[in-house]
Amino acid sequence: MSKWIRGNTLQLGLAGLALGVVLLLVVAVLPATSASAAPLPQDEKPSDETCLACHQQAGMTVEIGGQPVPLTINTEMFSASVHGTEGIACVDCHTNITGFPHPEVTASSPRDFSLELYTTCQQCHSEQYQKVLDSVHQTALAAGNTNAAVCTDCHNPHTQPRLTNKDTGELLAGARLLIPQTCAKCHNGIYETYKKSVHGAALTQEGDPYVPTCIDCHGVHNIADPTTNTFRNSTPYLCANCHTNETLMKQYGISTNVLNTYVSDFHGTTVKMFEETYPDQPTNKPVCTDCHGIHDILKVDDPNAGISIKSNLLVKCQQCHPNATTESFTDSWLSHYEPSAQAWPLVYYVNLFYKFFIPAVLGGMIVFVLSDIYRRFIVRGKGNSHK
Ligand code: HEC
Ligand code: HEC
Ligand code: HEC
Ligand code: HEC
Ligand code: HEC
Ligand code: HEC
Ligand code: HEC
Ligand code: HEC
Ligand code: HEC
Repeated sequence: MSKWIRGNTLQLGLAGLALGVVLLLVVAVLPATSASAAPLPQDEKPSDETCLACHQQAGMTVEIGGQPVPLTINTEMFSASVHGTEGIACVDCHTNITGFPHPEVTASSPRDFSLELYTTCQQCHSEQYQKVLDSVHQTALAAGNTNAAVCTDCHNPHTQPRLTNKDTGELLAGARLLIPQTCAKCHNGIYETYKKSVHGAALTQEGDPYVPTCIDCHGVHNIADPTTNTFRNSTPYLCANCHTNETLMKQYGISTNVLNTYVSDFHGTTVKMFEETYPDQPTNKPVCTDCHGIHDILKVDDPNAGISIKSNLLVKCQQCHPNATTESFTDSWLSHYEPSAQAWPLVYYVNLFYKFFIPAVLGGMIVFVLSDIYRRFIVRGKGNSHK
């Protein structure tokens, strides 16, 4: 039997008809020979053993659109998978298959075959399925880009391990470390860059689960277009999710003042106003990623490309200030430090001066106005009564 299947491809030719009949008999006999009890009348669906009797055989393939598709299912891996352990049967997903011969395959290529089959996931995971409908991947797919990711590109239905804690719903630490590799299947260039960044290196080399993976910045099932104005204007808050978290940043000795100082800066003030008032309008002011990079963010004191080094920072400023040619231009950016008597003393003292000067001027004004009111209404009133 196995030899026949190995050699055969999709078509059950006329010559195979007799053998097909034999196979049908095998299918009919298998459930009886397996250890399970006789199938109950109300549960006539074929058991996994029935399917695996054929599909666990090594080297089994079928040709779809002239390309081979492997048909062997690894029994141990399936049993260990989240679906295997949850008791999901082959036919719970393969709802169109009830026995052998199977319904004819209509897909014209292996990719078409995948695109037809993945829709079965919505039966049990409608939440994720609904989210995906609005994602960049679905948009690309609808526009005819058949390479865009569908459920089965990121989750092998037969080997998918558990990703979240069943009770708490939290992502398992081990699963988190594998996420960038999932995206790397198709976005390998970005993965290679990310892997060398301060975030990616910590994840891939040290197994640090607190740095961002692709999905902390992009989402998972509802990935939005990251090239829009809305996305750009919201990046400071995206980074701030972690970079203003005192407990987290303390472990790395990184300042959490980066958002405040950014927002109070001449660039950030505008971006913040935009984010609040016109989230979808373009802004020409820099956001975090214009200075720090995106998938290639480095430690600021990286000896080669760190932006603590003025010449490296100047390149970033020049994107928008092309006339800035001297390194001292970068000094006009106060960096993330709050001005103090030590750092940026001039700014500090000017600020300090204004701190007293403005209240003094305003206070003087108020005193002046009050005394004027007093003079006009009270003093003059008194004067009138004397008349
Ligand atoms: C008697 C052996 C045999 C049994 C039992 C069997 N299959 Fe198959 N299966 C095949 C062969 C041969 C192919 C290649 C395509 C064809 O001939 O239909 C195949 C193809 C497939 C395919 C891919 C293409 C297609 O035809 O849809 C799926 C999915 C599949 N089988 C699932 C199942 C499931 C689920 C079961 C259990 C209900 C099962 N098979 C039982 C032999 C078997
Ligand atoms: C959680 C749903 C699910 C379960 C459970 C499941 N399958 Fe599949 N299966 C799929 C999907 C979806 C595909 C299409 C995969 C793709 O895009 O290549 C598939 C593809 C296949 C194929 C075609 C070859 C391939 O890998 O693409 C075979 C054969 C197959 N399944 C057999 C089985 C058998 C046998 C079982 C039970 C032991 C089983 N499946 C359990 C969803 C499932
Ligand atoms: C017949 C129902 C059913 C179908 C169809 C089904 N699944 Fe599942 N799936 C489950 C169940 C049940 C679980 C376990 C859920 C839990 O315990 O939180 C699960 C778990 C998962 C998990 C892991 C979730 C976690 O929190 O760890 C992923 C990923 C997954 N399925 C993907 C898929 C994909 C992709 C498809 C389509 C190829 C699919 N499933 C089809 C029932 C199904
Ligand atoms: C681009 C890759 C990708 C695609 C496409 C994708 N997923 Fe996921 N999915 C992931 C990653 C990564 C996780 C783990 C992260 C998490 O749980 O937040 C995940 C988590 C899950 C979970 C666990 C519960 C949850 O929501 O976190 C389920 C169930 C699931 N996916 C099902 C699906 C189904 C069904 C589809 C298709 C409609 C799908 N996924 C499409 C990457 C993907
Ligand atoms: C099966 C291949 C595949 C996988 C896996 C995949 N993607 Fe994609 N992705 C695509 C394709 C194709 C496009 C649309 C073409 C393009 O714009 O690059 C796309 C587009 C995107 C875009 C929008 C790009 C733009 O310029 O608008 C983002 C963001 C993205 N993917 C993130 C992810 C993330 C994050 C993961 C992992 C969780 C992932 N992708 C996994 C194939 C994939
Ligand atoms: C720290 C946050 C962050 C992480 C981590 C991250 N991205 Fe991005 N990504 C962004 C931002 C911000 C943009 C928008 C860039 C722009 O303005 O054009 C972007 C753009 C993209 C794009 C579309 C533009 C392009 O360069 O092609 C894709 C695709 C993408 N990211 C995929 C990924 C993948 C895959 C990973 C994981 C390996 C990842 N991203 C990790 C923040 C991040
Ligand atoms: C105009 C350019 C610019 C912008 C915009 C910018 N940074 Fe920075 N950032 C720098 C420079 C230069 C340094 C290194 C010098 C320093 O220590 O201040 C730095 C340092 C940092 C550090 C390291 C702090 C430490 O304790 O070592 C972090 C984290 C950081 N920035 C995050 C952010 C975040 C998050 C944003 C957006 C809210 C942002 N940056 C916006 C230029 C910028
Ligand atoms: C999921 C949390 C998280 C998000 C989101 C995040 N980061 Fe980080 N970031 C970290 C952690 C944790 C480190 C420390 C890694 C290490 O040093 O090993 C870090 C390190 C850095 C550093 C290096 C600081 C130094 O030591 O010089 C910079 C710069 C930085 N991040 C900028 C950004 C920017 C810009 C964004 C947004 C585009 C961002 N980060 C988004 C968690 C995050
Ligand atoms: C993404 C573009 C962009 C980047 C990158 C950028 N700037 Fe600016 N910057 C602007 C815009 C736009 C203005 C407002 C100009 C105006 O209103 O005349 C501005 C204003 C300024 C001003 C106020 C004085 C003036 O000319 O109005 C200074 C000083 C300045 N930037 C310094 C820097 C420094 C230093 C860097 C690098 C660390 C930098 N900028 C990076 C876009 C940028």
